[in-house]
Amino acid sequence: MERLMITGQVPLRGEVEVHGAKNSSLPLLAAAVLCRGQTVLHNCPDLSDVSAACEILSYLGCRVEREGRTVIIDTEGLCRHSVPDSLMREMRSSIVFLGAIAARMGQAELSFPGGCELGPRPIDLHLSALRKLGLQIEEQHGGLLCRSEGRMRGTQLTLSFPSVGATENILLAAATARGRTVLNNAAREPEITDLADFLNDCGAKISGAGEGVIVIDGVETLTGCEHRVIPDRIVAATFLSCAACTGGDVRVRKVEPAHLAGVLPIFEEMGCRLECGADSVRLRAPERLRAVRDVRTMPYPGFPTDAQAPVMAAAALAEGTSVFVENIFESRYKHAAELRRMGAQIKLEGRVALVEGVPKLYGAEVFCTDLRGGAALVAAGLAAEGTTVLRDIHHIDRGYERIEEALRPLGARIVREQD
Ligand code: UD1
Repeated sequence: MERLMITGQVPLRGEVEVHGAKNSSLPLLAAAVLCRGQTVLHNCPDLSDVSAACEILSYLGCRVEREGRTVIIDTEGLCRHSVPDSLMREMRSSIVFLGAIAARMGQAELSFPGGCELGPRPIDLHLSALRKLGLQIEEQHGGLLCRSEGRMRGTQLTLSFPSVGATENILLAAATARGRTVLNNAAREPEITDLADFLNDCGAKISGAGEGVIVIDGVETLTGCEHRVIPDRIVAATFLSCAACTGGDVRVRKVEPAHLAGVLPIFEEMGCRLECGADSVRLRAPERLRAVRDVRTMPYPGFPTDAQAPVMAAAALAEGTSVFVENIFESRYKHAAELRRMGAQIKLEGRVALVEGVPKLYGAEVFCTDLRGGAALVAAGLAAEGTTVLRDIHHIDRGYERIEEALRPLGARIVREQD
C-alpha cells in the first residue's frame, strides 16, 4: 500500500501540464473494438483505469501496446465477446464496452457493473436504448447476455436524463447499425464530442455531437485512425483548486479553456483572478478566498459533479458559507467527513452540503473515499498547517497520473511512500 505525505501551507507557483482525459480515453479504447486495423491514441494518460480498459482489449484478443502516452490497438486478433467479471468490477465504466462489442461481434457477455462508491449507478438507460436498437438482452445471474440478429437497426431514441455513459454506448452501437439513429436529450460533454470526432475519422457519419440531438447514419465498417485525446478538464479543475486553496499563482497548461466554462466562474466568485490563453488558464488566488453562494452540479455545460469535491476543499477555507447541491450522484459527499478531520466545517443534508469556511485546515491522517474525493484531500493537505497522511491513494491513481510529480515543481511538499 502506498500513501501520500503532504506538508502544507506552501503557495503553489509556476506552470503545470494537464494530461489527456480519462473519461475520453475509456470510451475511445472501447471504440477501437469497432475498427478494423489499427487505432493509435495519442495523449492517452497512464492511469489504472486506462490499464484496466487495455486489459479488456487484450482479453478480447486485440493487440495493445503503449509507448509513453500513445496507445496502439490492433483488432485483427479479436476473438472473444465477453468481459470477465474481475475486469468489469475493476472499473464501473467498463459498461461502455457493451455497445462496441455487441456491434462488432453480434453478441456480448458482460457482468453487471453494480454500484460504486458514488452510490447506485444504474444502467437502465443504456439497456433500454440498446434494446431499441435491436439488441436482445437477457439479464441473468448478475450478467448480461446480448445478441443481435445481424447489424443493429437505427431508430429514434430519447434519454430521460442526458447520461454520459448511455450516450457513449448508443454512439458505439449505432455507428455501424443499419440506417439512421436520432438521439434526443443526448449528453453534451466534451468527451462525447471527442468520441464522435474519433468515430467520424474512422468512417462513421455522426452529426450534432455536443448538442442535444445527435444523428447517426450507420455505416457498414469502420477503420482505425490516429487520434489525440482531449485534455482532462477535471484534472485541470483540480490543479486550479490546489492553487486556490494555497493562495497560489499557477498557470495550468495544455487545457481547453472552453471546457472549463462551468467551473471558472466559481473560482472568480471566490475572488481568484483568471487569465485564459489559447490552451492555458492562469489562476491567482486572493489572500483569503470568498464563499460561493451556490455550486450546483449539472450535466455539461453546467458545473461538473467530478469537480465538486476538489472545489469543496477550497470552499472549506473561504470566508463565509458556501452551498453545494449535488444533482448527479446520490452519495457523493464521502470526502466531507475526511475534510472535517482536517478542521473543515461541513454540514450535510441529503443532496446539499453547507460549508462554513474556516481560516485554517490542519494536517491529519485521512483516507481517500473515491477518486475525486481523494483529489480534494490533496488540495486540502497542500493548504493545511502541518502534515497530512493520505491513504487509499489507489483511488487517486485511477484518474491522476502520479499527482505528486505534477505538483512538486509548483513547490508542493508531497511525496509518495510505501506504508
Ligand atoms: C460519467 C463519467 C463519470 C462522471 C459522470 C458525470 C465516464 C466513464 N464516467 O459517468 O466520471 O462522474 O459521467 O459527469 O465518463 N443514470 C441512470 N441510468 C442509467 C445511467 C445513468 O439512472 O442508465 C443516472 C446515474 O445514476 C446518475 C446520472 O444518471 O445519477 C448520471 O450518470 P451518467 O451521466 O451516466 O454518468 P456516467 O456515464 O456513469
